[in-house]
Amino acid sequence: MPKTKKVFICSECGQEYPKWNGQCYACGAWGTLEEQITEKRSGNASASSVKLTMSSIGNVDFPDETRYKTGMNELDRVLGGGLVKGSLVLLSGDPGIGKSTLLLQICATLGSSRKVLYVSGEESERQIKLRADRLGVSAQGLYISSCTDCDAIIEAMRTEKPEVVIIDSIQTMQLSELQSAPGSLVQVRECTTAFMRAAKALDISVFLVGHVNKDGGIAGPKVLEHIVDTVLYFEGDKQLSYRILRAAKNRFGSTNEIGVFEMRDKGLHEVENPSAMLLSGRPAGVSGITILCTMEGSRPIMAEVQALVAKSGFAAPRRVSAGFDYNRLCVLLAVLEKRAGFAFGGFDVYINIIGGLRIDEPASDLAVALALYSGLCDKIIGEDVAVFGEVGLGGELRAVSHIRQRVREAARMGFEKCIVPKSSLKELDKSEDYGISIYGAANLRQAFKVLEAITPKEQAQ
Ligand code: TYD
Ligand code: MG
Repeated sequence: MPKTKKVFICSECGQEYPKWNGQCYACGAWGTLEEQITEKRSGNASASSVKLTMSSIGNVDFPDETRYKTGMNELDRVLGGGLVKGSLVLLSGDPGIGKSTLLLQICATLGSSRKVLYVSGEESERQIKLRADRLGVSAQGLYISSCTDCDAIIEAMRTEKPEVVIIDSIQTMQLSELQSAPGSLVQVRECTTAFMRAAKALDISVFLVGHVNKDGGIAGPKVLEHIVDTVLYFEGDKQLSYRILRAAKNRFGSTNEIGVFEMRDKGLHEVENPSAMLLSGRPAGVSGITILCTMEGSRPIMAEVQALVAKSGFAAPRRVSAGFDYNRLCVLLAVLEKRAGFAFGGFDVYINIIGGLRIDEPASDLAVALALYSGLCDKIIGEDVAVFGEVGLGGELRAVSHIRQRVREAARMGFEKCIVPKSSLKELDKSEDYGISIYGAANLRQAFKVLEAITPKEQAQ
């Protein structure tokens, strides 16, 4: 029987302390230390009976990485091309965002050709069945269970040999030898480690669902990020039906990819053409709106940037930004004022990226700057114009990556004109007909001139 001891653990970073403290010295967070009961390892480390084996790297033989298709291309892409055999994937997100729905839906494809075990610690078997019926999921190889005992699940993995296991959620699981309550940091960490060992030893792919809790009451998935192979975040505004899946960590692929889904009455639907979705419902003839071509991983996406510049009633005007970095907005306002002579001093400024999208690439600067200019001067920007480029502190436009993909996507979505940094023009293939007029601008002032020249007179007012 292992010895137990009381420790204080930071719910943010997992650092342990023998005594309570107001601040965690490791990550600097305040009020995050919680009392936990943990087990002390017995035995002498030097007397280990395990012998280390070593291999020369050239002699390590391994079969090609096996990946399972989940039936959802959007999820497969975020995973790096499918679910890797024997990997541990953590899917986290706010309660009610659609984690259980997504994982139950992929069981339809996964379960049609292999054995899949879906274990829920939150719902009874009847409830899972009801949800599966509603989603139209019934696969030959899908087994469901309602259980919260970690050891029992791992034993079933050993004897039943499923190829994929889904644990919904890690916060409900418990190891009976630990005294802490399910959902506590120690339980969550130890259960995850146990599932990790089982996944690697038995070559079973495991999905773990993890809830994020804003006030840190229960163990957030932050401490788990080090343990698992892949961390996916499912995000979106619960009021809106769109959901975005991102990889925050991936040992088997890029972390830049996103997957876009829409929550409908019969579950999640993949959005294969996010540009069309994000551009639908665009208002015509309104100032302060620009269309940006941004890269999300390897995929170009057209997004709408809206700026509202309104006379301020406050001594310190308001700057509000949704989907775009607040500090970056302040920098762009300063650059517009200093380098192009547009003063925003007496105006409130609001920036919004449509569709709940969050844009953090520098190539979005020009679109935001032009939306601010359009909003301030009340000049309407043509609906057929797409823009992208990074704005430097000198007001210059800097080259951006993936210019060809961006221009092609703009042309595909029916845009006729495109303003890009002049220095990016050399990246374009001269022999290719992009089907869109491309205008290069060296700085913000030139971009405003180009805009003036390409906007029809009757539309500009
Ligand atoms: P759920 O997958 O239970 O969320 P999580 O596991 O992340 O907590 O999703 C719950 C929400 O999704 C709930 O608010 C209802 C909605 N929903 C639909 O709109 N359509 C559906 O077909 C399903 C199953 C759920
Ligand atoms: Mg759930």
